[in-house]
Amino acid sequence: MATQKTKCIGVLTSGGDAPGMNAAIRAVTRSAICNGFKVKGIYRGYDGLMAGEIKEFTTEDVSNIIQRGGTILRTARSKEFMTVEGKTKAYQQLKKHGIDALVVIGGNGSLAGARELAEMFDYTCIGLPGTIDNDLYGTDSTIGYDTTMNTIVECVDKIRDTAQSHERIFFVEVMGRDAGFLAQNSAIAAGAEAAIIPEYRTDDDQLAKFMERGIRKSKKSCIVIVSESPKCGAMYYAKRMMKEYPEFDVRVSILGHLQRGGSPTAHDRILASRLGVGAVTAILQGQRNVMVGMHQDNVVYVPFSEAVSREKPISPELIKVLNELSI
Ligand code: F6P
Repeated sequence: MATQKTKCIGVLTSGGDAPGMNAAIRAVTRSAICNGFKVKGIYRGYDGLMAGEIKEFTTEDVSNIIQRGGTILRTARSKEFMTVEGKTKAYQQLKKHGIDALVVIGGNGSLAGARELAEMFDYTCIGLPGTIDNDLYGTDSTIGYDTTMNTIVECVDKIRDTAQSHERIFFVEVMGRDAGFLAQNSAIAAGAEAAIIPEYRTDDDQLAKFMERGIRKSKKSCIVIVSESPKCGAMYYAKRMMKEYPEFDVRVSILGHLQRGGSPTAHDRILASRLGVGAVTAILQGQRNVMVGMHQDNVVYVPFSEAVSREKPISPELIKVLNELSI
């Protein structure tokens, strides 16, 4: 049963799309309807909210989408919403459309926006962690991360075939913005020789170290996964290698936006479904301004203040695993 106060829930996706966002939209919609709420889908993230691009959703509106990548609600990175005027516009649209609680599916910036909206207008916002980067504190995994990991591993397996055949060194650049989860864990899963991540940004000595470790022994080919970075991404390291170790044949592969597409894995579909139901449960319980996360297989509620501002550390154990197994 819907609480007395909240009768209608709005749902939007914001920021970079992530596989599993559709499964989350479906879960929020169906769970809300199941519990007596009206649901309104808001298109194009905060931009669409400010413009009033809003439609009431039935259970049929979210049929046949659990398996689809991207987001049926579409998404945007809104500059205007970051301003006071933008948030005021958004709040006015929420009032106009009778939406008394908002579920935002997105990454760090999107949930930070939800937090500001909630605080400015004493309004109920619930966040779902939807980003391939896995960089939100308080949840073991974010929606989309597992699918992207699998996509990267599939690509690296293919790159390794050609790397071995030609005895080449490949620097493979993956996404992650300021976080190295994708690079570190895909390196372990793909059996790569090294990962260069923002949290432990490698310097020249470290480059030399892994060269000695991997190449000077028995290996003739080598895969290094590099987190994207405006200054020291895969191209930067490839150039250094070519200069400092001219005896090696070096290539670069930047995986780019293919990492964000594709059908979500079973893991991401289940995660999105559980978190979506968790969002409606939170509203029923009268919770507000929390991110719904998953910790040790339990749905948890993390205050926005922690989810968006605390750093999610990479376990040093993951570094040790890669270092020991890539000899
Ligand atoms: O946050 C998800 C993400 O894919 C990051 O890994 C990446 O840095 C960024 O979005 C790219 O954003 P855009 O698609 O706007 O270029």
